[in-house]
Amino acid sequence: MSAPRIPGPSSANRTIASLLLLMLAAALCAGCSHPRDEAAPSTTKLGERMSPGPYGQIARGRYLVRAGDCAACHTAQNGAPFAGGRAVPTPFGTIYSSNITPDPDTGIGRWNDADFYRAMHEGIDRLGHHLYPAFPYPWYTRVSRDDVLAIKAYLDTLAPVRQANKSNDLPWPLDIRGDMAVWNGLFFDPGTYHSDPKRSAQWNRGAYLVEGLGHCGACHSAKNFAGASDRDHPFTGGFAEHAYAPSLAGGARDGLGNWSEQDIVQYLGTGRNSRTAAAGPMAEVVQESTQYLSKEDRQAIAVYLKSLPTPSDDTVATVDKDTLSRGAALYVDNCEGCHLKQGQGELGGFPPLRQNSAVQAKSADTLIGVILDGARIPATAGEPTGLAMQGFADHLSDAQIADLTTYIRNAWGNHAEAVDADHVQDLRETLRKSPSG
Ligand code: HEC
Ligand code: HEC
Ligand code: HEC
Repeated sequence: MSAPRIPGPSSANRTIASLLLLMLAAALCAGCSHPRDEAAPSTTKLGERMSPGPYGQIARGRYLVRAGDCAACHTAQNGAPFAGGRAVPTPFGTIYSSNITPDPDTGIGRWNDADFYRAMHEGIDRLGHHLYPAFPYPWYTRVSRDDVLAIKAYLDTLAPVRQANKSNDLPWPLDIRGDMAVWNGLFFDPGTYHSDPKRSAQWNRGAYLVEGLGHCGACHSAKNFAGASDRDHPFTGGFAEHAYAPSLAGGARDGLGNWSEQDIVQYLGTGRNSRTAAAGPMAEVVQESTQYLSKEDRQAIAVYLKSLPTPSDDTVATVDKDTLSRGAALYVDNCEGCHLKQGQGELGGFPPLRQNSAVQAKSADTLIGVILDGARIPATAGEPTGLAMQGFADHLSDAQIADLTTYIRNAWGNHAEAVDADHVQDLRETLRKSPSG
């Protein structure tokens, strides 16, 4: 819906600084998330105006703040909610989220509605400086003015927290905010969501949430060399920090082709269903954001996701027998106790690994991360106890994890690219150094 603009010859002719800057963005655009906060219902249809009066607007703003997962990024570990300071690590340096409580000096207390709308809509702060797309304004730009102002009305009710913003830890020339104008010129397509009149109200509501506040594509879409999401092939899978967010498109093997709408509704509400359990960054998205969406909104998202096109299935090379038999033996020793002999798992307990789309994703990084560091099913209001799996980083070597991963991706009818030990070693190193999962 939003093809990147074609760069003109004048804008292409820039210095190395802008090129580096574009590369910087590669890391910045990855979404991030982190724990915090409790419940709230209430919803409106796209375009429907909320009942007038401040209370209605504030309640709606609170709901929308959850839908946008604002607290996750704007709360540092053990920090005051919304006071910022959460490190967003990138290969080029660290970006810190801002204080968005209403403190006049260190937060957004002096921002008026127009300032706030411009930040959400154009990625420009109150003083006119460009913000980095680590703040997902390329998605939030789709959000209606009404909804943005409701978000502001809710944020205005928070207790002001006096906490100065940390300056970003970026090397020159990447620290020059003005250069983001180049990035925006090339890749940013501002504009609120336009309903498609040929589609149902429910479909449009789903599209509005997924393309806008949900910024699902920040993780689930491939990114170009400059970190801009590929909007021509959206939701076909992409990297999310050190994990991989699988395709949400219609592929039967590694997409949502075999998922029913109900499967999606249940997954977004509880982080689990009969096919899988949310791990890594998605566990946090469910815990902090999607579990609070109303059933109608989760249903609308499901309707929209199920309408995404089915990409052609990539050809995958077959894996050699020795690797598979080594992997099978490791599976029996370490995994079978919970995930069972045929990888079928146990309904309501351990997720199946057989016919699991995430297990067969284009990249095995989430799977490898789970084996190294373990995972916990998000605890939600619907399913309060999150079962956990322990990590095997101390028990299995890189080569063993490679064999095991390759086996799981090719056992019981699964089929996906093999994994090599060097790749496991790299990821192990990265995860060890990363400040958060
Ligand atoms: C993926 C992480 C992430 C999410 C989700 C996120 N933000 Fe941010 N936000 C950031 C980062 C990082 C910055 C700082 C960007 C910079 O320094 O250029 C920021 C900056 C901002 C700013 C500018 C503040 C200032 O003082 O300049 C506002 C306003 C803001 N965010 C509001 C929100 C709202 C509202 C939401 C939820 C709808 C939200 N953010 C969700 C990461 C995030
Ligand atoms: C911070 C990055 C991030 C964001 C934002 C995000 N996801 Fe995810 N998502 C992931 C990762 C990583 C996984 C893989 C989890 C796993 O393998 O258990 C995932 C898995 C999923 C799955 C299961 C796919 C499968 O094949 O098992 C669905 C469905 C999903 N996400 C929907 C969404 C929707 C809808 C949104 C927006 C409302 C969203 N995600 C936003 C990172 C993200
Ligand atoms: C003690 C029981 C237990 C053992 C042993 C165990 N797991 Fe798990 N596993 C779980 C639970 C519980 C989850 C759900 C956590 C989540 O994904 O949020 C899980 C999740 C997973 C996932 C993510 C599934 C998805 O849909 O995203 C993978 C992959 C996985 N395990 C592989 C393995 C492998 C490989 C082994 C052996 C090295 C193993 N598990 C051993 C309990 C176990």
